Amino acid sequence: MSKVFITCALPYANGPTHLGHLRSTYIPADVYARYNRMKGRDVLFVCATDEHGTPIAVQAEKEGKSPKEIAGRYYEMIKKDLESCNISLDNFGRTTDPLHYQMAQNFFLKLYNQGFIYEKTIKQPYCTDCNRFLPDRYVEGICPYCSGEGARGDHCEICGRHLDPIQLQDPSCLICHNKPEIRESVHYYFKLSEFQNEIKEWIDKNQELPPNVKNYVLQWIKEGLRDWILTRDMEWGIPVPLEEAKGKIIYVWMEALLEYITSAAQWAERNDKSWKDYWDDKTIHFIGKDIIYHHSIFWPALLMAYGCKLPYTIIAGEYLSLEGRKMSTSKNWVIWTSDFLKDFESDILRYYLLVNAPLTRDTDFSWDDFQRRINDELADVLGNFLHRTFTFTSRFFDGKIPHVTSMDEYDQEIMEKIGKTPQVVSDYIESFKFRDGLVEIIKLAKQGNKYFNDKEPWKTVKSDSKKTATCLYICNQLCKTLGILLTPYLPIKSLEILKTLNLESSKINWDFTIEKLPYGHQISQAKPIFIKIEDGIIKDKKETLYKNLGEIDNMKDIISIEDFAKLEFRVGKVIGAEKVKDSANLLKLMVDVKDKKLQVVAGLAKKYSPEQILNKKVIILVNLKPAKLFGIKSEGMILATGESLIVLSAEGAAVGEKIK
Ligand code: 2FM
Ligand code: ZN
Repeated sequence: MSKVFITCALPYANGPTHLGHLRSTYIPADVYARYNRMKGRDVLFVCATDEHGTPIAVQAEKEGKSPKEIAGRYYEMIKKDLESCNISLDNFGRTTDPLHYQMAQNFFLKLYNQGFIYEKTIKQPYCTDCNRFLPDRYVEGICPYCSGEGARGDHCEICGRHLDPIQLQDPSCLICHNKPEIRESVHYYFKLSEFQNEIKEWIDKNQELPPNVKNYVLQWIKEGLRDWILTRDMEWGIPVPLEEAKGKIIYVWMEALLEYITSAAQWAERNDKSWKDYWDDKTIHFIGKDIIYHHSIFWPALLMAYGCKLPYTIIAGEYLSLEGRKMSTSKNWVIWTSDFLKDFESDILRYYLLVNAPLTRDTDFSWDDFQRRINDELADVLGNFLHRTFTFTSRFFDGKIPHVTSMDEYDQEIMEKIGKTPQVVSDYIESFKFRDGLVEIIKLAKQGNKYFNDKEPWKTVKSDSKKTATCLYICNQLCKTLGILLTPYLPIKSLEILKTLNLESSKINWDFTIEKLPYGHQISQAKPIFIKIEDGIIKDKKETLYKNLGEIDNMKDIISIEDFAKLEFRVGKVIGAEKVKDSANLLKLMVDVKDKKLQVVAGLAKKYSPEQILNKKVIILVNLKPAKLFGIKSEGMILATGESLIVLSAEGAAVGEKIK
């Protein structure tokens, strides 16, 4: 039986997971793992928490706790998050597990003894206030490559490059903000530069690596690979296993990557198997795009040095933004997995994050779009089709799959589609195009719905029971295929579908799509499987999100950046202002924007008299229509209170900067 070894990037144990993690890595990896199991392959699917390194040490310092304590807290949270999303990991380890210390130290020693690691005395930033060297995240500055600000000692978030702390321009200590001085320290370097050609060859030859990974790597290789510093002057971490290296630890990235193997070894030990059998067959890493460098350059080079087989491919999910803005945990612009799952089922989340965009493209989570897709696609298309089929079967055929005596061309066309779709979806999943596979499944449900409508079984049941039987026979077969194909995507909902069809879950594998439900097979009473999301909950969710964003106190001030970019502002002058008859609230303004005059009706009358507004300069929004302003139901009203004011009208809108 062919084996597949699937890993997902290790989350740092310094915070819970959010939708970005799920979208880029865990959900796609799980779809792939579940699909491969359904194909009868022997899958080993592992992950772990990344518990060393400066992020955890910094957080522990901030909270006055030990790093191990912090890591333990988040290990439990992350584990629960992943379980609640039904990420079907075989093992979820920790980089602080004793077995991992052994693995990492042995790996280091082997590379050292083989001459791939050498010592070098280097200059390092040292903070005289904090009395210590400043590795990685402990120092911040300007990136020497892209001049991006806020680059960390090990990595620039803006251009994605790996950095040495000493390379940073204008460095400062993260803890006390002091300018560090430079001191000497002996460190251990990995001869990454020696692997330049081999890595390039591997990338060039590899047909499997997706373009987003290849493109990054080739660009970095062009710039030339530099040797990697493998050690740190720091307490928290795995000690360098050399007598003369007291007080130094192995760099977190080197050992974290090895945890893929440790986690597999833990599982193998429990199950009396060999992790290497899996590794040597087909290894696939699922990661986020910010760590392509580590996985496609550093990791393969380490493996080459050790003499290990290289991964089959690396799937790098791109970013998820939130309501048009970059997610930020520090600004609370984020949706935590556990918060989301308080109100919605995990399959709903899986659906939206998978269908939203291809994995290889950045995309956005928006509450409105989420509601729309769930209601239109899952409830109206898929749910409706399943429900109609099951209730009609119960009502007209006592819940038994009806007998078919003849099929017309249309019936045959649908049967053919049912027969062909599994292979189409399969091809997509095999090539990591999870969204395309899912879209294909929804298309099939759509076609089912149309077929049901066209065949009008509620009418034919009175006039031609044979036609009704054929229709319901076909619709039930379609439901069965949907249930099976959805299993890797929506593990809970698909089970509900298959349970209604009275199919044993042990029989569910990909090839089971070929078999047909036999005549007379009894199905169960239908229960609604997909329920619509009400407007109220979406409104609540949006309000909470904006309220949590500390810097904004009036949610009506918000417009997404994307929509904001579409707006056309012009400077104008109020040349006419009068009260609207019979209204205590409204003023009618005439605003001159040089080439035209715009009329603006606004609820300003309680605050300003027409005289106070007249002759004021305003910024006019001349194209309100293309932008969906958050929270606005009708034109001609004031959005914001306080000093800034936005006035909208049918013809245009005025934004008075500060009306004095
Ligand atoms: O970037 C991160 O979140 C790292 N904790 C990922 C490590 S993945 C690998 F090395 F195991
Ligand atoms: Zn940079």
